[in-house]
Amino acid sequence: MNKITLQFCGGTACHMKGAPELMAVLELLPEQITSQLHVSLTHCLENCGAGPNVRIGGVVHSRVTPESLIAIIKNLAAGQVK
Ligand code: FES
Repeated sequence: MNKITLQFCGGTACHMKGAPELMAVLELLPEQITSQLHVSLTHCLENCGAGPNVRIGGVVHSRVTPESLIAIIKNLAAGQVK
C-alpha cells in the first residue's frame, strides 16, 4: 500500500498562517490512519497569499484548516482501504 504523502509548506508565510498547528492536528488521528501517512516539510510552494498550503499526494491544497485537512486525509485513507 502506498503511503499518502503530506508536504507541509515550511515557508514563513504559511508558518505564520498556521502550518505548525495543522501539523499538530495529525496527532489527533487514529494510528490506523497515521500509519498510512508520510509527512514532511517542504520549501515555499509559491502560493504564499493562500496559505497555509499543504501538498497532499502531489496536489497543493490552499487555505487549509484543521477540519479540511482531516477531511482530505480521511477521504484519501478510505480510498486506500480495499
Ligand atoms: S510560504 Fe507557503 S507558499 Fe510560500
